[in-house]
Amino acid sequence: MRELPAKARIFIYLEWLVFTIAFVIFVLVFKADLINSIQSLKSIIIILSLTIADIASDLFPIIYSIDSSENKAEVTISYSLNFALAVLFSPLITIIISFLAAFISDIFTRKQWFKTLFNSTKIGLETGIPSLFFYKYYSLNLPLTNPKNLSAICVGFIIYLLLDSAILFALLSLLNNKPFIPFWYKNIKKVFFTLFALFFLGVVIVFFFQTQPLMNLFIIPTFTAVYLALKRDVQVTQETEQALYELAAVVDARVPDTMFHSERVAEITRDLCNALNLEDGITNVVVMSAKLHDIGKISIPDEILQKPSKLTSEEYENVKLHSLDGEKIASALTRFRKGATLIRHHHERYDGIGYPDKFKDTQIPLGSRIIALVDSFDTMTTPRNYRKIPKTLDEALEEIKIWKGTQFDPDIADVLIKMIKENEKKYAQLIKEAKENFE
Ligand SMILES: [Fe+2]
Repeated sequence: MRELPAKARIFIYLEWLVFTIAFVIFVLVFKADLINSIQSLKSIIIILSLTIADIASDLFPIIYSIDSSENKAEVTISYSLNFALAVLFSPLITIIISFLAAFISDIFTRKQWFKTLFNSTKIGLETGIPSLFFYKYYSLNLPLTNPKNLSAICVGFIIYLLLDSAILFALLSLLNNKPFIPFWYKNIKKVFFTLFALFFLGVVIVFFFQTQPLMNLFIIPTFTAVYLALKRDVQVTQETEQALYELAAVVDARVPDTMFHSERVAEITRDLCNALNLEDGITNVVVMSAKLHDIGKISIPDEILQKPSKLTSEEYENVKLHSLDGEKIASALTRFRKGATLIRHHHERYDGIGYPDKFKDTQIPLGSRIIALVDSFDTMTTPRNYRKIPKTLDEALEEIKIWKGTQFDPDIADVLIKMIKENEKKYAQLIKEAKENFE
């Protein structure tokens, strides 16, 4: 926990404090409900089976990546179960089951102690507080379809959704040094439909519990189907993405001196996008395209790609096709479609004499202007077979100064120069590693 920024640590301590206060109040106010429940065998069985189902669903999360960083957020089917718990049980029973289920499943998966505590207290709070609302406004003696109950369910879901997302994204925004509201809005959009589907599943559980508790046995196949469908959706996206990145790395490795070139271009591109204060959504697309910018080289024959001497004009025309081929490959996949245009234009020049469309100035998409600059910077600073000794950082920056306004977008070039000067050590290390790989 010591490695976390102070603000994030304070937030976590506060969250624990709020949970403890809520728990003590719930014990004082609702202990009679708990005592009543544990006196009937039937309700003990229901409580135990719900806890076990909750633990089981927590053990199989669906993992989403959040914004353009390495952060991940988990969504699990226990979201539905906890919602049903909040509607059906007294707040004290709800907070105990949801806390314990999250706590036990995190112990099984051996999360760090403070993550386990943060996660389980968060789930206890986000389930316990809506449960207070349901305790007051949802009547178990009326059917779920009663307008009063239906409106309580809708308002309760909004409270549940807001609490869940606010606690998680508040911590992540502190860890990433981002303002909370835009961070929350951007990320909630990503998971909203999944959460909405899980909310409906929660409502179905409530319905079955109220009408015929035994019907909940049928929930198990429904749970499994929803879990597999959601998991598959995330998995297919991640695997497609990974397969294309691997392909891009294989293309780089065909010529030993361009090994890891695309990876480095992507890394510097991410820094440059951040230095330009681009929105995370845009940064994601630009970085993805940077990783894939030369993927079209897959169709260039070895004898041209690996030729140590100067290319003939016919061979050069062949090489130039790689930006169009790259566009074709990227646009075949929904996930990369937005980046396809950026790949098409990554060899345009600011003065309009690049290829393939001879676009100039702001006609060239912003992302392509960024990638073109970083691509050239990496090529200048890392060794190539035709030029064994690369330029030093200072020489490369001088070169960029010379070509800004003709080859490169001058404003972006200025930001890159400033960024590299301010973080000289980091980029010197990056090109040192490239040199070692070459040798
Ligand atoms: Fe290229």
